[in-house]
Amino acid sequence: MSGPNFDGGFDILTCEDDNEEHPPYPPSNHGSRSNVWRVSMLNVARGNLSAVVLAVLAVVLLIVDISLGAHYNNLTDTHLTAEDVEQIRSEPTFLEDSSKNVTTTMQEAQKQLDSEMSSQKETNWELEHQNKRQTDYKVQIDKMKKDIASMRTHLPMIVGGCRHCPPGWILMNSVCYYYSFSESAGLKTWNKARDFCKMHGGDLAVIDSKDKENATVKILLNNEDLSKPLNGFWIGLRDSDQEGTWKWLNGTVLVEGYWNDGEPNDANDEDCAAVYAKKNIFKAWNDFTCGATMKWICEKTPTSTS
Ligand SMILES: *[C@@H]1O[C@H](CO)[C@@H](O)[C@H](O)[C@H]1NC(C)=O
Ligand SMILES: *[C@@H]1O[C@H](CO)[C@@H](O)[C@H](O)[C@H]1NC(C)=O
Ligand SMILES: *[C@@H]1O[C@H](CO)[C@@H](O)[C@H](O)[C@H]1NC(C)=O
Repeated sequence: MSGPNFDGGFDILTCEDDNEEHPPYPPSNHGSRSNVWRVSMLNVARGNLSAVVLAVLAVVLLIVDISLGAHYNNLTDTHLTAEDVEQIRSEPTFLEDSSKNVTTTMQEAQKQLDSEMSSQKETNWELEHQNKRQTDYKVQIDKMKKDIASMRTHLPMIVGGCRHCPPGWILMNSVCYYYSFSESAGLKTWNKARDFCKMHGGDLAVIDSKDKENATVKILLNNEDLSKPLNGFWIGLRDSDQEGTWKWLNGTVLVEGYWNDGEPNDANDEDCAAVYAKKNIFKAWNDFTCGATMKWICEKTPTSTS
């Protein structure tokens, strides 16, 4: 062994490779090998990094050692040309460069790893944030769904509220009613009263339930001067087709009438019915001559503004 400036480790290594033919260590290989290291470094967890770095360094130096060993071994077998001598002189510089390049490569790898990890942290934070926002949205959507459901339940009421009656008519149980309370409305026969109602898009009122009777007479009691003789109010009921068979305007036969005691009596060919402001609400009807003039009650469907 005549190679200059080499330590014992080098000599031992060359002994093991004595029988193999090694080409001179090509510097261009360093670059590609470094790339392989860089890629694998990125996959290594941070904690193991220093150990791996040392291992990499050891392996790189080992490879360089082996190559150089073979190289110099070859040199000893042949004649040393001036070129060979020059190459040998440059070897320490070459080794130093290699060492520096490896160090630089590792530093770069470390930097890249640090940057990858910090960007990973950022991504995690964003992901967490996104999840939280999604939960918030879900809560909001649930609340909106509840609000919509509650609004839906109010819808019939709102639509009902939008329905309205003309001035002078009152809305009761989704029906518009007109009571001819005012003096100026005057008195009319049953037929003229019905004409009035029809002219306003309705007809004489039908009182075909206890609730309607109750509500109608209550309104009369609240609006009539009970100290004066009571006014009768025409309703849409008559027995002109067949005496004693009372029918509503559409021909339906009366089922339950709220007649005063002793009525209807057909006393004077009385074929039309009227309701009075009687305190006994369910005994408030009387039959009367259709040609007599009285007040009246109309009903009609509310108009919808929607
Ligand atoms: C070290 O790297 C430089 C460029 O980065 C290159 O020119 C040089 O050949 C490398 N040296 C060795 C010994 O690999
Ligand atoms: C009549 O209507 C009133 C509410 O306006 C109610 O309190 C009363 O119980 C009703 N009477 C009958 C007999 O239905
Ligand atoms: C006729 O009018 C009565 C009283 O309003 C009502 O109960 C009945 O359903 C009506 N019949 C028809 C066929 O419209």
